[in-house]
Amino acid sequence: MYKIIAFDAFGTIFDVYSIGKLAEEFFPNQGQSLSIMWRDRQIEYTRLVSMADPIEGGSRHYVSFWEVTIQALRYCCRRLGLALTPEIENRLMDQYAQLEIFSDVLPCLQAIQQQKIQTAILSNGSQAMLNTVVERNHLSSYFEQLISVDEVRHFKVMPMTYELILKKFECQKKDVLFVSCNAWDIIGAAWFGLPTFWVNRHQLPYETIGLPPTYQGSDLADLLQYL
Ligand code: LAC
Repeated sequence: MYKIIAFDAFGTIFDVYSIGKLAEEFFPNQGQSLSIMWRDRQIEYTRLVSMADPIEGGSRHYVSFWEVTIQALRYCCRRLGLALTPEIENRLMDQYAQLEIFSDVLPCLQAIQQQKIQTAILSNGSQAMLNTVVERNHLSSYFEQLISVDEVRHFKVMPMTYELILKKFECQKKDVLFVSCNAWDIIGAAWFGLPTFWVNRHQLPYETIGLPPTYQGSDLADLLQYL
């Protein structure tokens, strides 16, 4: 039915909240709140960068997702009154570069590969971040393309980021199923016109605005039922 399945990376394939465990070691009782606030602030900065200069050739304010992530960490530590030393910052960012996959990822990618459906990652992550984390988890042979928004110097949910999938695969919107755990990412892709699968890993309510996902499930095993 679909020729290409394009996955979001952080939170969908790679377990970003596992960072909370490491943060907890440095900041007892604050690790979880730091990791959640960090994630929110990181995404807020991406929107700031794109919305302030939403032009075709890329935002003049663009900095890589790696830099956005560092700045968001610094802000959140200030906000929570946590003493972020250069050493702790390096350890947390190193962890980011080495995130592990969720346990449902590999069986899902193997099943998709057997069905001869092409796969890609479309991520806010910089090309270097994607290459590193995919290689570290030995997933290179499961993805035809690792697509970073670096190419358009804008972040999701700018339509031109989702369009990258169509350009790379020379395909039509209806050929692509976009998979993400982020409801906002699903809405962005759906507004762009892609069929979507929302991985509701944390049993959250769906957003109250935007288009609903075409399909949804609680993990990537549920995705296989639709393929
Ligand atoms: C990504 C973030 C948004 O990988 O999860 O694009």
